[in-house]
Amino acid sequence: MASITGSLSPDSDALAIFVNEKHQYRDKKGLLSKELIKKINSFIKTLKIKKKNEEIVSFDISDTQKCFIVKIKNKHESFYPEEIGGRFFSHLKKIKDLNKIDLYIDSLDFDNQSLVSFFSEFCLGFNLKSYTFYKYKTTNKEKSNKKIIFKIITHHKANLQKKYKYYDAIKEGVFLSRDLVSEPPNILNPKKYTEEIKKLSKLGLKVEIFNEKKLKKLGMNALLGVGQGSENETFLVVIKWNGASSKFGKPLAFVGKGVCFDTGGISLKPARFMEEMKYDMGGSAVVVGLMKSLALRKANVNAIGVVGLVENMPDGNAQRPGDIVKSYSGKTIEVLNTDAEGRLVLADALTYTEEKFKPKFIIDLATLTGAIIMALGEEYAGLFSNNDDLANKIFKSSKNVNEKVWRLPLHRNYDKLINSSIADVQNINYAGGAGSITAAQFLQRFIINKTPWAHLDIAGMAFSKKAANLNSGGATGFGVRLLNNLIKEYYE
Ligand code: BES
Ligand code: ZN
Ligand code: ZN
Repeated sequence: MASITGSLSPDSDALAIFVNEKHQYRDKKGLLSKELIKKINSFIKTLKIKKKNEEIVSFDISDTQKCFIVKIKNKHESFYPEEIGGRFFSHLKKIKDLNKIDLYIDSLDFDNQSLVSFFSEFCLGFNLKSYTFYKYKTTNKEKSNKKIIFKIITHHKANLQKKYKYYDAIKEGVFLSRDLVSEPPNILNPKKYTEEIKKLSKLGLKVEIFNEKKLKKLGMNALLGVGQGSENETFLVVIKWNGASSKFGKPLAFVGKGVCFDTGGISLKPARFMEEMKYDMGGSAVVVGLMKSLALRKANVNAIGVVGLVENMPDGNAQRPGDIVKSYSGKTIEVLNTDAEGRLVLADALTYTEEKFKPKFIIDLATLTGAIIMALGEEYAGLFSNNDDLANKIFKSSKNVNEKVWRLPLHRNYDKLINSSIADVQNINYAGGAGSITAAQFLQRFIINKTPWAHLDIAGMAFSKKAANLNSGGATGFGVRLLNNLIKEYYE
């Protein structure tokens, strides 16, 4: 966590001053020399905000110290302090020998509460943007992991500390999610994944791990079938956070697809880009990251996370196209394509979650279909729901944190496309198109008691080759901030 203090540090490489449009630097605390203040104010006058919500200028205070002036727009509609923080990190990262910076924030013309919110969100963005996954590098380690230590100088220390702590919990959740997704598939197999989740117990989360023996007993044959061709054992993990004042309130439930590697199975995928299928556990990583955040910030809510952890491999014992499996719900599934495995994993996890915990709602997350990337690219996750109220809340939260979702329809005519001639349901439709929708229809068949349910297809969002506002390429952790906001805004 960054330190928050009242005075400038003697050994920092830089000082950053934050001001609004049309405002002058006001040295409320007598931190700087008159001469420096004069210089700062002359720079402020020339600084015009153009395309973004902020503009940055810098000059040398001395041979060893720089001064940055960050001019920020007075708020308007598309104003995300996280993104300003992310861009500020990118700006600093390019500057050689800049490792330590003081951020003086009180000069912004926001009321106290807005100032504290602005800066805690700004710091979240700064921190998120600084994430790197470098543990497997043996050379150039420093270069790939440039960290900038910052100190916040303010009058509002106590308030800021509290808010900062809240956002730090979110950051930790996003980082855990990114770490899990970034791990190579030879390391993060389902067993190792359960061990990583088990470590969260020390935060007060209850972790229950079901191995194959237990899953067989429970009748989770849809999930087990996916892992049948792998040397690695299949698991289902339940994570519980009991933070609500009443232990008996209905919990919120989050279910994630945790396919640690998806070769496609016997319906084998092409070689090109198959390596990307290590991130096919991205949905589960969001659930795990979210649960960590809830525990760290001691959320006043009861929540359940359920993840199906499995590896989809071709093998002499692998599931065949044409196999029929009996799911946990009792419904039989004709597996026409072993590459449509995510929905098989989720089918059992969804029914189990609904039946066992009778939650207020279930939200599942999955890198479920390539088709969602065709439809929405890397901009929006697909949202599907049987409940308008839940869908609207998710949509609003997605706007609050700028993790964008777009709702797509469910309809009985799509549902018909997955009727099997010899079982209750088939796992793909060869005719009729709408691959992401029919995948969602498949999931809906395993919500048995009409529990409000939403499905987020994050295939285009979990991982990105290109850098974005709040990440520098690679695993994004998309969904942790969105779901945390949903809980905070509507269920605490
Ligand atoms: N994990 C994939 C979906 C995916 C594709 C995620 C690309 C991220 C990037 C999923 O298991 C899958 O293979 N789906 C198939 C379904 C098809 C066989 C009906 C697909 O999308 O091609
Ligand atoms: Zn697949
Ligand atoms: Zn998959």
